[in-house]
Amino acid sequence: MDSENLVRKLGIKHIGIIMDGNGRWAKKRLLPRMAGHSQGAKAFKNCLNSCVKSGVPCVTFYAFSTENWSRPEEEVNSLMKLFCSFMDEMMKQDDQNIRLRFLGNRSRLSDEVRDKMTEAEKMSEKNTGMWCCIAFNYGGREEIINAVKTTALMYKSGKLDIDDLNEDNFSDFLYTSGLPDVDLIIRPSGEKRLSNFLIWQSSYAEFVFMDVLWPDFSEKDLIDALIEYGKRNRRFGGV
Ligand code: IPE
Ligand code: IPE
Ligand code: MG
Repeated sequence: MDSENLVRKLGIKHIGIIMDGNGRWAKKRLLPRMAGHSQGAKAFKNCLNSCVKSGVPCVTFYAFSTENWSRPEEEVNSLMKLFCSFMDEMMKQDDQNIRLRFLGNRSRLSDEVRDKMTEAEKMSEKNTGMWCCIAFNYGGREEIINAVKTTALMYKSGKLDIDDLNEDNFSDFLYTSGLPDVDLIIRPSGEKRLSNFLIWQSSYAEFVFMDVLWPDFSEKDLIDALIEYGKRNRRFGGV
């Protein structure tokens, strides 16, 4: 079965992908870590195309976490530069009807990075196809704290009665507001953890951990993950 039919048959609405393993990919080749990140950007593009082909309504890629600031300054700066040039390329190629959206806290980012985000979101806002979310300076805990602050402000200004607060309207205060919960999280690189990715949205997600390093991630790997997902029995607490 091809990926399009698989996604439809499985009813997948949202896939989260933790793009991990760039550094190890480079190390294996005795290359600087940034070479791995550049190759990772290519893998991102390929995977995005595979996701469009598969007909998945929404995919979120984890590109930079709130914890990644702890890396050497040189790597962080190079990642920011890579992000900007990558976005320039994406914007030149707005031919797949993709809606772009960035998840995360923008306040610590440079004006240049922030402007690219605004520009890309604006450019693609009239598109009607797949949502491509890029989690950048994203942390699940930060997202929840941010939503709690919004809730408190709404309560304080009389716009929200505390008894009316529920999982649905609280979700509206998250960066993923309006997007479906995550059905499947794919993490390449052999690590088996979430690393603060979509912790609220993945409460009932299925996890597929793969040994491939992100720069080598292929369409076949995506299909393998979908097939593995298809074998799971999602019960949501029922029987
Ligand atoms: C993921 O690759 C990319 C980012 C977190 C920005 P890593 O850089 O974490 O690669 P490894 O885990 O060191 O191999
Ligand atoms: C998770 O990868 C973040 C991204 C892929 C952007 P990390 O490499 O930062 O995660 P840890 O440190 O192995 O948990
Ligand atoms: Mg890593």
